[in-house]
Amino acid sequence: MSVDSIEQALLGRLQSMGLQDVLRQTPDGWQLISPDEGERPVVLDLEKEFLQWKRTLTSFRDQPLYRALGVKGTELPFVLDATCGLAGDSLQLLAYGCRVHSWERHPVPALMLLRAHSAWQHAVKERWSLDLADFSIPSDVQILYFDPMYSEVSKKALPRKEMRIFREVVGQDTDAVEVAERLRAQKKRLIIKRPPKSSELLPGVSFAQEGKAVRFDVYLP
Ligand SMILES: C[S@@+](CC[C@H](N)C(=O)[O-])C[C@H]1O[C@@H](n2cnc3c(N)ncnc32)[C@H](O)[C@@H]1O
Repeated sequence: MSVDSIEQALLGRLQSMGLQDVLRQTPDGWQLISPDEGERPVVLDLEKEFLQWKRTLTSFRDQPLYRALGVKGTELPFVLDATCGLAGDSLQLLAYGCRVHSWERHPVPALMLLRAHSAWQHAVKERWSLDLADFSIPSDVQILYFDPMYSEVSKKALPRKEMRIFREVVGQDTDAVEVAERLRAQKKRLIIKRPPKSSELLPGVSFAQEGKAVRFDVYLP
């Protein structure tokens, strides 16, 4: 499917969900309008975010997500990011050196991603494919990564503005357990991102990597 036909299909879905007013088109891509009047819109600047990850990840071997990947040697794995959202984790995985195939099904982030990804000129795009329509799992993917929208939000850790607006628009992924079960059935290493101290999404966690504000539950095949 061409970029234009994916965009048309996503715009149709946006309309049928009554969400056409939450996005504004600009020459630099889509802006996500905050439901709170007077608040600045959310924009997706892949170059800026990627460079931020590159700068902060000088010692990425200590990062819980990197440790959850279980990298041995120098070769970084090919990861399916089943929940791309606004690409924070996909960009982090790309900054480590992984190859990444990202799914996103909600028309709001999908439209933002589609424009931003096709306009972005960076060599790292050779390692990054977007899937906004088919949700296929490339046969050579080695690791499955899943970060659904969950309802448990820690009162201590107020989500940053982008995440709060995003949460208000996209809502919850009520089918997260079913999707996680389908991913688990692929018999590949599965990493599920969870809030700290929350229950596991699926039973049978092999081990977990904890960060300050996040936990990665790892399921070995
Ligand atoms: C918590 S956000 C992901 C945030 C992302 N990890 C980041 O770092 O920016 C979850 C996203 O996954 C998407 N999503 C959830 N389940 C999905 C599925 N089965 N297929 C495709 N996208 C999915 C939701 O629409 C939402 O945009």
